[in-house]
Amino acid sequence: MATHHKLIIGNCMEMKEIPDGSVHLVVTSPPYFNAPFDYKNLFKSYGQFLGVLRKVAKEAFRVLADGRIFVLNIDDMLVNGDKFPIVADATKIFLEAGFRYRDRIIWKKPDGYLRISRRSGVILQNPYPMYFYPDNLLESIIIFQKGKFDYKSIPKEIREKSKIDKKEFQDKKWFMTLWEMNNVMPGSPLEKDIAAFPEELPYRIIKLFSYVGETVLDPFVGSGTTMKVARQLGRNSIGIEIKKSLVPIIKKKLGFDEQKTLSKNEDTFEIIEREKGWIK
Ligand SMILES: C[S@@+](CC[C@H](N)C(=O)[O-])C[C@H]1O[C@@H](n2cnc3c(N)ncnc32)[C@H](O)[C@@H]1O
Repeated sequence: MATHHKLIIGNCMEMKEIPDGSVHLVVTSPPYFNAPFDYKNLFKSYGQFLGVLRKVAKEAFRVLADGRIFVLNIDDMLVNGDKFPIVADATKIFLEAGFRYRDRIIWKKPDGYLRISRRSGVILQNPYPMYFYPDNLLESIIIFQKGKFDYKSIPKEIREKSKIDKKEFQDKKWFMTLWEMNNVMPGSPLEKDIAAFPEELPYRIIKLFSYVGETVLDPFVGSGTTMKVARQLGRNSIGIEIKKSLVPIIKKKLGFDEQKTLSKNEDTFEIIEREKGWIK
């Protein structure tokens, strides 16, 4: 079955191109509030950051079909010595938008990731009480749901085509609230300066929360990881990205650049650039 992939270049605080109830799953990772390395001073205030989340939650609630899932990869952030409770605030915002709180998974990165963080060095230089600032190698994956899912609404054939591999589920320990997954290496060519999540994250979520032929949305699509995995798993995708400069990276990642096409040639790709209308 051919799949369709749509990239919208614009701000995801509105999703006017996407009809009500037409999306079956959202997987996304917003820019972390003024993260020192990746998004320094991107937002004027914490309030502005939460305002963006509020608008996205509201639009996502509109475009999601009943019973469907929004997965938010996010974490608390330390900025200039203050820790911002982003997970707690985001959870509240999504509840206020009408979602049910379904679950929280903790993503643990490999221990070697700490080399990037090194806050704990403070106590090694000052081995006394009150100098404790732990290194963080966790992120949260919070799962929200729009109402309740009607399991009978899916035809038997689609259910079977979307079956989860029980061996993979068990061997990779998907059943726990702790997911150990590698992070994307800093300096990976396609994800440079993007703070991409590893393919494993949307892979698990798409398999667990959508059926073959359905539509997956990532409103902060970055390098296009969610769209790529959606395509590989036989789902349609919609990505929204504010930075037009990422278009070639996304096309390349999905295999829709000129030189390279994946084997599934009948899949289609379109770009909508707001203001200018269609660019391809
Ligand atoms: C953390 S990155 C997402 C990375 C993505 N998960 C990946 O694997 O490549 C967040 C992305 O959201 C984009 N962005 C930030 N604000 C946005 C907005 N209001 N609307 C759409 N995209 C936005 C940023 O340019 C950045 O590429």
